[in-house]
Amino acid sequence: MGMTRRTLLRSIGVAGGAGVMFESMRALGLAPAPQALAAPDFQEPREGDLPAHARGSTVVVLGAGIAGLTAAYELGKAGYRCVVLEAKDRIGGRNWTVRAGTTDTDLDGNTQTAQFTDDADTYLNAGPGRIPQSHITVDYCNELGVRLEPLLSSNAAALLHSDGADPQMHRTVKADHHGYVAELLSKAVDAGALDGELTADDKEALLTFLSGFGDIGGSDTGFVYEGSSRRGYAVQPGAADQEGVVLGPTPSLSETLSSGLGRYLQLDLGHDQAMTMLQPVGGMDAIVDALVDAVRGNGAEIITGAPVTELRNTDDGVEITYRGADGDTVLRGDFCIATLPPHLMAELPTNLDPAVADALRTPEIWAAGKLGLEYDRRWWELDEGIYGGITYTDLDLLSMWYPSHGFGREHGVLVGYYNEGPMAEAYGALSPAERTRRALAEGARIHGAQYRRGLRDSFSVAWDRTPHVEGGWAMWSSRGPEYELLNQAAGNVYFAGDWLSYQTAWQAGAMDSARYVVAALHERVATG
Ligand code: ALA
Repeated sequence: MGMTRRTLLRSIGVAGGAGVMFESMRALGLAPAPQALAAPDFQEPREGDLPAHARGSTVVVLGAGIAGLTAAYELGKAGYRCVVLEAKDRIGGRNWTVRAGTTDTDLDGNTQTAQFTDDADTYLNAGPGRIPQSHITVDYCNELGVRLEPLLSSNAAALLHSDGADPQMHRTVKADHHGYVAELLSKAVDAGALDGELTADDKEALLTFLSGFGDIGGSDTGFVYEGSSRRGYAVQPGAADQEGVVLGPTPSLSETLSSGLGRYLQLDLGHDQAMTMLQPVGGMDAIVDALVDAVRGNGAEIITGAPVTELRNTDDGVEITYRGADGDTVLRGDFCIATLPPHLMAELPTNLDPAVADALRTPEIWAAGKLGLEYDRRWWELDEGIYGGITYTDLDLLSMWYPSHGFGREHGVLVGYYNEGPMAEAYGALSPAERTRRALAEGARIHGAQYRRGLRDSFSVAWDRTPHVEGGWAMWSSRGPEYELLNQAAGNVYFAGDWLSYQTAWQAGAMDSARYVVAALHERVATG
């Protein structure tokens, strides 16, 4: 219907986040299979690995986010000298946990100071909030002693919502969609419509599968879906004669399809989105703290409040100017690993080939935002029985996250929205107070009047309005020659970041990209 592939991808991206979007791009043949730059066979540099001629080699790392810290950590293991320059006063980049007393000023001059309850459970992971079990982030947590706990990404008790209709539990939407799909397919199989595709054994096996998939009867009941206890209960089953009352009425097939809620059911199928996921105990910045300790323990220096103002390749190294409290300082090193966001790196005065700056401007910068709401009671648990998980809506909130930790505690921070793209831009254009007001009004359409009651404090981040970051993440519509160029050394300068990986907007992407350049740099030094 006139929908371009780009618009389609945007809408998929909006509904499902970057992970879902890339899966879809691959399905549409837009994203190449990851073979051009195969994942590095990362040989961790070991102490004493550095050849005599290279001892004391200095690497200047730009940016103390996850990519920069990982690079410094791995280089430090091998005995390189590292200096990490961070423009912000805070270390961690987008890995940022907001808790009592956290203060921040955005590009529009809005200053917020979190007045959250001062305890270990009450925080907002303003950037990354979840870690797939399969990511190397988990390996680093194990190596660095960062304790992990479950992050409940998918929750059958969380809600799915289309504006103008009542929200439904995830389980209810799933039961109806599975039920009707099973009914239709069973009828088609039974009527012989798929005889060209299926053997008699296949048919029997498929009907058996569909009976369970949709919780429908067999041929004796005509394969009809008439609702199921999987929808949930209006009155819970109990003792003695209380068999419970199943939630009803079951919508018709047509009502189920037209609700549009089925589109959310794909979100917990992505390989990196909704398995049992993980989070560090006490906040995502535990990873930053552990990396900083390890980096400093290896003798590296991290200088904060030090924006880089110029970068030059020289015959035998790099020359980097940064602006500190005492004016400009010029640092000389053998190599540089630059982990700034690509669009900001592109604006830095350098003597690199202009093709590099052009390439840095290629990925699209995508906005993302989050709002933390602390209430005086955990009403979503106490009144609605929602313990962790995510509610999705087509309102600009896009998603609400219920905390996966601190059950039964008095306080907790609910993520009032985690949105991206144009929705995040719309919220980001408002003042923090206006964002909260708008989010409470939108949230009340899902959770009712109690959503507005008992709010203790709120804190929001608009990553596109955040100094030295200015975006949620960078997305490639295709990983072409620009991507390849930036994954190679530009003289003595290497680039690293999640945007140079196939794990965009994941800490694992930043970590693996950092390992990739450390491995390349180390090989060059060792053989040079
Ligand atoms: N990795 C980001 C998320 O989990 C996009 O939402």
